[in-house]
Amino acid sequence: MQTALFQQWLTVLRAAMVNDVDDMCATLATVIQSEDRERLILLPLDELHSIMSMVQMFVDERCMWRVQFERFLKKTVRTRDILPSYLFIPGVQRIGKNAVGGGGFADVWKGELAGKIVALKVLRIFGPETECAKIFKEFSKEAMIWRQFDHPHILPFHGCCGDLFTPLYAFISPWMENGDMISFLKQNTHTDRLAMIRGVASGLCYLHNLQPQVVHGDLRGSNVLIDGNKLPRIADFGLARVADTQAVSLATVSYNGKGSLRWQAPELLSFTKDATECVKTTDGSDVYAFGCLCIEVFTDRPPFPGLSDGMVIAALLIRDERPSRPPAPAAQRGLDDNMWDLMQKCWATRRSDRPGIKAVYERIMPFTQWEERRDDREPFTSHVIRYIG
Ligand SMILES: Nc1ncnc2c1ncn2[C@@H]1O[C@H](COP(=O)(O)OP(=O)(O)OP(=O)(O)O)[C@@H](O)[C@H]1O
Ligand SMILES: [Mg+2]
Repeated sequence: MQTALFQQWLTVLRAAMVNDVDDMCATLATVIQSEDRERLILLPLDELHSIMSMVQMFVDERCMWRVQFERFLKKTVRTRDILPSYLFIPGVQRIGKNAVGGGGFADVWKGELAGKIVALKVLRIFGPETECAKIFKEFSKEAMIWRQFDHPHILPFHGCCGDLFTPLYAFISPWMENGDMISFLKQNTHTDRLAMIRGVASGLCYLHNLQPQVVHGDLRGSNVLIDGNKLPRIADFGLARVADTQAVSLATVSYNGKGSLRWQAPELLSFTKDATECVKTTDGSDVYAFGCLCIEVFTDRPPFPGLSDGMVIAALLIRDERPSRPPAPAAQRGLDDNMWDLMQKCWATRRSDRPGIKAVYERIMPFTQWEERRDDREPFTSHVIRYIG
């Protein structure tokens, strides 16, 4: 039995659909911004899932009310503490008998979805079932935000898969055949490295300019992948942040703490009065990490390559040191005085002294010829059925 509110909602949408899809979209936007919104959010779960799938379909179609629709979805997920059913994609196959790679809290498998090669990032979370479900939910909420991104230098996200690695879950994104940025640069030494850096800055600019702003929180070479057109794509948004907030649970289960300490701004490494207080990543700490990523791009090595993590902390917090200017071949790779000055500004000790990423991007721009390409994301909406019949 459908609730009266849901039936009323269907009737309004059916009437609008008689005209055209734009009309239906406009009607939907009006409904979710009216006072009915709060009541819609409290509908029974099956009805709510139908509404969410419909709203997401319009987001995927890049309709003009996209921002309002995304806000509605986020509020619904937060209020009801549910994951939308459209996030779970059926029909994913895995390729091969072993994972092709793995990081701090996940293994990466190659897979296939609708004839396309995809990457399946399987969270390595073991422990009591309720605890695992809670952690997965936190990851998925971050992934939901990731799903809405639409930029040529951001790795698209298709959805989750809950039935291939049971009881573990996987996040699905397109397979990046050229691997991570640092391995790519090591093998393709003649790549235009300034162009790579500018691509990453452009993706970061997009994230920082979103409303509300999105902070990456774990920017570094291994979290930038290279697509089939040899363009950089930023990956792994917010997942590290969830891993951090869930560190206690993850520590008891699986997290091996393979850290990204040397990309982290000093304020994130400082000891606070209250040891349990969590220092948040910000756009400023992303800019700091971006400066470190530039070191990787020019040298093919992480910042402070000769130092252990402990020595890096001492260098940063006690001696306020930063990486020194890399020798040849960095200069031939594009590290001139302008670029070096910019990187040092990104490393300013005080967050407020660092430039915004837009200023960074604009300062790199005159030195590179970069042709922005259109997003080639496949919306994968074909499996979303029309709910209003
Ligand atoms: N979409 C993708 N396409 C191709 N390779 C990928 C994709 N996603 C991840 N990989 C590869 O899988 C490996 C593991 O990635 P993962 O993000 O789990 O680890 P990491 O970035 O090294 O560390 P961390 O877990 O701290 O992010 C990396 O070598 C990465 O290049
Ligand atoms: Mg990664």
